[in-house]
Amino acid sequence: MGIESTAHTASVGIVDNKCRILANESSSISPEKGGIHPREAANHHAENLVPLVHQAAKKAGVPLRELDAVAFAIGPGLGPCLRTGATAARALALSLDKPLVGVNHCVAHLEIGKATTRCKEPVLLYVSGGNTQVIAFAEGRYRIFGETLDIGIGNLLDKFARSVGLGFPGGPLVESLAGKGKRLLQLPYSVKGMDVAFSGMLTAAIELHKKGESLADVCCSLQETAFAMLTEVTERALAHLDRDEVLLGGGVACNGKLRSMVSRMAKDRDAEMFVPEASLCVDNGAMIAWTGLLMHKSGVRLEVEDSSVNQRFRTDQVDVSWA
Ligand code: ATP
Ligand code: FE2
Repeated sequence: MGIESTAHTASVGIVDNKCRILANESSSISPEKGGIHPREAANHHAENLVPLVHQAAKKAGVPLRELDAVAFAIGPGLGPCLRTGATAARALALSLDKPLVGVNHCVAHLEIGKATTRCKEPVLLYVSGGNTQVIAFAEGRYRIFGETLDIGIGNLLDKFARSVGLGFPGGPLVESLAGKGKRLLQLPYSVKGMDVAFSGMLTAAIELHKKGESLADVCCSLQETAFAMLTEVTERALAHLDRDEVLLGGGVACNGKLRSMVSRMAKDRDAEMFVPEASLCVDNGAMIAWTGLLMHKSGVRLEVEDSSVNQRFRTDQVDVSWA
């Protein structure tokens, strides 16, 4: 069983050792206005995790005592949210007398994509609300080849959408309006080496809208420019590592425009793009369960007293004993 609670989603998944998803039950908090408040999200998770655990067990047809281990996302993420999930996982593991496994959230996005799309040695473009990273396995570790220097790409879309009164979550709203856009407006294209930055683009896009540019044109330009930056650094990672598989992960991987730009780039260099199904792209418990299972099988053990969460747990800090 895997428990996910790093940001606005509480989710409990159960998988078997062939990565069949037996259950993946989620509940997300979406605030009426403003960003997510860590404490409010944690309260939401505290209320929902226990029912989700039972719901998942019922859906999977697996009595809790038959679980092999209880995994949870130990980081990175929002402190109060992480601690709520960790508390639930510890309580469950102790009461059932099952081993506890602490999973890195970003690595879990990659592992579930690998297991369900059957790619082998991908470069992962992980694009969610809080995270934007280009990750690949190299010399014994998952390494970050490029990342955002400020806000995540999903955050850019969410913040823009809120500022111009579109609502939340912004990604799908921006995507549908962008389809009606006709002109490409100038926005800052900021790629620094292998890293990207989005906050300047956010300010500039809001300005364009204030100046009276059509919202559809701004949305379209925002997607074009931001996704071109991501496609560029992903391509460079592929070239550098001499790989021919790109895997998308994170909520923004649901975006059709991003998919078409990345797949076009991949095709041009005889590579292939893989995208897990939407329920496995967004934050979910099944990816934590699956990565926890890989770790457990490879002998990773975690004592309750060592199970403190790590808000800034970096992808490259993970000891990959299972690859
Ligand atoms: P993390 O904690 O990993 O940063 P998160 O809490 O942001 O994750 P996800 O479920 O991975 O959660 O992703 C949510 C993000 O995905 C939101 O920013 C949302 O706007 C974005 N998103 C969802 N669908 C689309 C879409 N079609 N196009 C662009 N963005 C999308
Ligand atoms: Fe995520």
